[in-house]
Amino acid sequence: MAGMKVFSLLAASSFLRYASAQDVIRNDTFFYGQSPPVYPSPEIEGLGDWGDAYAKAQAFVAQLTLEEKTNLTGGFANASSGCGGNIRGIPRLGFNGLCLQDAGQGVRATDFVNAYASGIHAGASWNKNLTFDRAYAMGGEFRAKGASIALGPPVVGPLGRIARGGRNWEGFSVDPYLSGILAAESVRGIQSRGVISCTKHFILNEQELNRIPTINAENETVEASSSNIDDRTMHELYMWPFADALHAGTASIMCSYERINNSYGCQNSKALNGLLKDELGYQGFVVSDWGAQESGVGSALAGLDMVMPSGLQFWGGNLTQAVRNGSVPEDRLTDMATRIMAAWYYTNQDAPDHPYPGIGLAPNLLLPHRIVDARDPSARPVILQGAIEGHVLVKNTNNTLPLRSPKLLSLYGYDAKSPDFNTPGPGFNPWSFGLQSHNVNSVICGFFGRGVCPPFAPIAQNGTFIVGGGSGANNPVYISAPYNAIQEQAIQDGTQLYWDFVNANANGSVHAESDACLVFINAAASEGVDRPSLRDDFSDALVTNIAAQCSNTIVTIHNAGIRLVDQWIENPNVTAVIFGHLPGQDSGRALVELLYGRTSPSGKLPYTVARNESDYGALLDPVGPVPPYTYFPQDDFREGVNIDYRAFDAAGIEPRFEFGFGLTYTTFEFANLASSVVSGASLSAYPTGPVIQGGNADLWDVIATVTASVTNTGNVAAAEVAQLYVGIPSAGQPVRQLRGFEKVLVHPNQTAHVEFELRRRDLSVWDVVAQQWRLELGAEYHVYVGSSSRDLPLVGNLTLA
Ligand SMILES: *[C@@H]1O[C@H](CO)[C@@H](O)[C@H](O)[C@H]1NC(C)=O
Ligand SMILES: *[C@@H]1O[C@H](CO)[C@@H](O)[C@H](O)[C@H]1NC(C)=O
Ligand SMILES: *[C@@H]1O[C@H](CO)[C@@H](O)[C@H](O)[C@H]1NC(C)=O
Ligand SMILES: *[C@@H]1O[C@H](CO)[C@@H](O)[C@H](O)[C@H]1NC(C)=O
Ligand SMILES: *[C@@H]1O[C@H](CO)[C@@H](O)[C@H](O)[C@H]1NC(C)=O
Ligand SMILES: *[C@@H]1O[C@H](CO)[C@@H](O)[C@H](O)[C@H]1NC(C)=O
Ligand SMILES: *[C@@H]1O[C@H](CO)[C@@H](O)[C@H](O)[C@H]1NC(C)=O
Ligand SMILES: *[C@@H]1O[C@H](CO)[C@@H](O)[C@H](O)[C@H]1NC(C)=O
Ligand SMILES: *[C@@H]1O[C@H](CO)[C@@H](O)[C@H](O)[C@H]1NC(C)=O
Ligand SMILES: *[C@@H]1O[C@H](CO)[C@@H](O)[C@H](O)[C@H]1NC(C)=O
Ligand SMILES: *[C@@H]1O[C@H](CO)[C@@H](O)[C@H](O)[C@H]1NC(C)=O
Ligand SMILES: *[C@@H]1O[C@H](CO)[C@@H](O)[C@H](O)[C@H]1NC(C)=O
Repeated sequence: MAGMKVFSLLAASSFLRYASAQDVIRNDTFFYGQSPPVYPSPEIEGLGDWGDAYAKAQAFVAQLTLEEKTNLTGGFANASSGCGGNIRGIPRLGFNGLCLQDAGQGVRATDFVNAYASGIHAGASWNKNLTFDRAYAMGGEFRAKGASIALGPPVVGPLGRIARGGRNWEGFSVDPYLSGILAAESVRGIQSRGVISCTKHFILNEQELNRIPTINAENETVEASSSNIDDRTMHELYMWPFADALHAGTASIMCSYERINNSYGCQNSKALNGLLKDELGYQGFVVSDWGAQESGVGSALAGLDMVMPSGLQFWGGNLTQAVRNGSVPEDRLTDMATRIMAAWYYTNQDAPDHPYPGIGLAPNLLLPHRIVDARDPSARPVILQGAIEGHVLVKNTNNTLPLRSPKLLSLYGYDAKSPDFNTPGPGFNPWSFGLQSHNVNSVICGFFGRGVCPPFAPIAQNGTFIVGGGSGANNPVYISAPYNAIQEQAIQDGTQLYWDFVNANANGSVHAESDACLVFINAAASEGVDRPSLRDDFSDALVTNIAAQCSNTIVTIHNAGIRLVDQWIENPNVTAVIFGHLPGQDSGRALVELLYGRTSPSGKLPYTVARNESDYGALLDPVGPVPPYTYFPQDDFREGVNIDYRAFDAAGIEPRFEFGFGLTYTTFEFANLASSVVSGASLSAYPTGPVIQGGNADLWDVIATVTASVTNTGNVAAAEVAQLYVGIPSAGQPVRQLRGFEKVLVHPNQTAHVEFELRRRDLSVWDVVAQQWRLELGAEYHVYVGSSSRDLPLVGNLTLA
């Protein structure tokens, strides 16, 4: 709440700032009028399968007073609740209120819950069913704890445009298709447990730098960064996965901190009224990110429905008054309340057995509190399998992995052991970072006391890294660190272990008889601050020093995003490398399954690993307040749709490891490519279906299929992710883009047949004139199938005619 007071001061001081910065503002061509006004805010209509929920919500809201409606829209501080956000109940109508709780990798800030693999780890698994199972299991825990609304998964914004982005690990992938498919699975998983899934952050929240208004070194107000984007890129890249989440029924969307075309995310009428509620037919409610509301009447008219954590700054009594004096039509307030209650009914939270809001959450876990063990034994295999499948093997010289009954293993690196706990009590302290950069963003980060910034920009954590920091962090019941799990295996095998987890320069400490030297490093990240770098000298020196003394050096990196490896990847003594991402509490157990070959690796990179930082070009670093935009930082998305592999393909840059790449312990052969238009598919250029939540219903119709076969030509069973890329024959389209993936387990000498279903939208481009998705009828689409974005042995074509 202290933060909120600062905000009121900010409003006053920023007004002065506008006055004294007129020159800069006037010269800022992006400042005025870039985000078109779209009013009034579309009302919920009960589209698609929302009819029942809408009818019940209407009947409920009809019984409310003006003040009750207002209170549904604004969070309040409840000192006896452990919820991240609270909405008051209406006892006379049997409504007990709402409890909003973080976050995307498990229920946050409580006890007796599991720590699941993070978003990026699920993305690296490329496994649809496993992603559903993860969300289903997690959703059960949110329900048991009395969370009405799970604040992710899915996270599909940031998408990962900026390589150093501090929150990229919370989402699945920089690819909108992969991200969208997994988002839909997540929404279905969470909501089938009677919990509202909040898909976030809408939209273009692609960097942490200047994501909120700040005070600069001269004590002047700097507004949040503006993500300036063209309409086609907005649709083809950033809105894409949101549309999938909406189509899957997400009943809540979180609007974002930063500005979009210079208008704040939670009061941008084009984004909320226009794109989300009109074009995408959204029926649920829009909730602000915590503290992201920047105006009262403005945000109400622009389509915001619920403000968190408190309604009292801009809404509350002021909203009631605004309705009374006509500044906000009462219909708008009624629509806010109806959308909120419809989401509640849509997820069957009126069922009599639904737990009381926040029943298993406590404001202070160290004080006596009601214990609600939310864990279900059926989740255990999901958590382990989820941890296993997000590991990506990228180098394995002469099949050094899997290990074969090693006699002596040497273990190195700060990431091998459990993290140090700086605070007593249960839970994981996400700020125990060991390797820290200078506090580059000290003013920006945490200025408002929002509690989401680490004291330093984290480079790496001293202790194994299983989840990133900030609101997406979770509280594991235990942490299986690599050292613990390898030790268990060593006990069984009688393997001698040597270790050094402290020194970077273990000169002379490598036992000459080591069968292998396992080096563990990490690349940390947290909400609130972008990553200082994509690699660090301390960790690279550690790898190089061990490799200089050990001809079988196996490196595991727990990376919260892209991690460059060119300092040592070609060193012949570095024989195997695993991107271990953020596996959750079963990290070590999962790694041992892979190291010892009980399961073959099956993860694939959900982003591109470059050779050099400079290969990411303008998308390496976030944009700050640089002249002439000192007070209104401008981030122009000039690259359009060419981010990550699309950019590397367009510029012909050879990556170190391409998007979709990952090795395993066997080999696969692709064959028998065939493609065809589904008979009877409607081949009109534009969709003709009614708008349901997600957009025109027929955008999801399967209009073509591509089939191929995958044969395991090696000696062990393994899963392969067959990937389909499509080159759309239209100006400005990427060379190729992911439009299908199927993960199949194939036994040696066996062949699996895969079928990719292409939906109308998958083959369409956004037509900015028609404001609709358009098929390129009669033109030849190129189709590519293989094991990564650059290993595509099968090439064919497809014509829609
Ligand atoms: C703004 O533009 C005017 C001319 O259009 C120029 O004289 C002035 O220096 C500019 N100011 C800034 C701060 O760039
Ligand atoms: C952003 O500005 C571009 C260019 O004027 C416009 O085409 C687009 O619709 C705008 N989008 C939003 C969300 O304001
Ligand atoms: C609405 O909220 C206000 C302030 O949070 C509270 O004082 C009031 O009692 C609430 N009114 C109702 C009807 O719940
Ligand atoms: C505050 O939270 C407690 C604990 O969940 C709950 O019993 C109480 O009803 C809440 N207060 C209000 C006004 O909703
Ligand atoms: C994935 O789930 C679908 C739907 O539940 C099911 O039909 C399919 O067999 C599952 N696939 C695998 C590989 O488990
Ligand atoms: C910063 O500006 C505010 C408002 O203009 C003022 O109250 C405060 O004293 C200033 N602080 C410093 C350190 O100059
Ligand atoms: C109304 O807004 C004013 C100014 O922002 C604020 O001081 C006041 O607390 C608000 N009142 C209510 C009841 O929300
Ligand atoms: C791989 O194994 C072959 C045959 O044993 C050997 O000649 C070659 O040097 C090995 N390669 C490396 C990089 O160790
Ligand atoms: C990690 O923590 C240990 C103490 O637990 C300390 O000795 C070591 O120097 C730290 N390592 C780094 C890289 O900060
Ligand atoms: C590889 O390791 C051996 C020791 O096993 C060492 O003699 C050699 O110099 C190392 N090579 C490199 C490139 O570090
Ligand atoms: C695969 O088939 C080949 C030839 O038919 C056979 O030699 C080999 O043993 C088979 N491999 C496995 C693992 O069954
Ligand atoms: C397109 O596919 C057809 C059938 O597979 C083939 O005959 C034709 O040569 C292909 N065209 C091109 C340009 O590759």
